[in-house]
Amino acid sequence: MAKYLDELNPLGKKVLVRCDFNVPISSGKIDDDTRIREALPTIKELLTGGASVILMSHLGRPKGEPVKELSLSIVATRLGELIDNEVKFCPEITGQKAEKMAAGLETGQVLLLENLRFNPGEKSNSPELAKELAGYANIFVQDAFGTVHREHASMVGVPAQLPSYAGRLLQKEIDYLSKALNPSHPFIVCLGGAKLETKIPVIENMIGRADIILIGGGMAYTLLKAKGKEIGNSLFDESNLEVARNILRKAQKSNTSLELPLDHIVADDF
Ligand code: 3PG
Repeated sequence: MAKYLDELNPLGKKVLVRCDFNVPISSGKIDDDTRIREALPTIKELLTGGASVILMSHLGRPKGEPVKELSLSIVATRLGELIDNEVKFCPEITGQKAEKMAAGLETGQVLLLENLRFNPGEKSNSPELAKELAGYANIFVQDAFGTVHREHASMVGVPAQLPSYAGRLLQKEIDYLSKALNPSHPFIVCLGGAKLETKIPVIENMIGRADIILIGGGMAYTLLKAKGKEIGNSLFDESNLEVARNILRKAQKSNTSLELPLDHIVADDF
């Protein structure tokens, strides 16, 4: 059973929060700041409660080394605007600078660490990295809903070392999902996103429970291809084509109707 923020008195605490600030960026600008906004309730609640807050996240998929375009400094700036408060940014994840900035953080202040995936230890779930990160704070809050399926150092290593709580975003999503497991009918599930791979367990779980599953976004194309449709150069996850075929077969045998986009256009030019 997850412990929520209601059980935490943040007064005087240094709280390390794992967020999912994996926002789309193009030409050095954030295209959609929804994920930053979704993190606000937890951050604001901790600050109002008298904590200092250290934030950490990944951005994109760098291969364990710094990539200028994937720096989280742009997120620090946007977050500062949204909370109307300075967000300090540490261009390191570990080492003296990060330690010093974390140690010097005062009540009501916010610090964001650089992209966790610039360190190879994040993906490999390195105990050393988890220990260093956990050393910055006395409490851990998990609020990176979009990343909870990853067994990375900041996701599983850190909470093993600190008293841990689920943040408000995670709580909200757990509430939604709990209702989805015991739904009233008609029950329609709407799923989108680019990556089919990470949604497969959800789709499989919902077949037989939902009356209708509506699938949109980039991931729909692998399923359309599995149905034998023309998808041009659209996103296609070849490694999951057989899984996609199984999903379609499973849905056909169940009382769930799985609906894919009908109104998409395949073209070279618009
Ligand atoms: C996402 O955007 O799906 C999450 O941030 C996780 O990112 P990942 O698939 O690169 O681990």
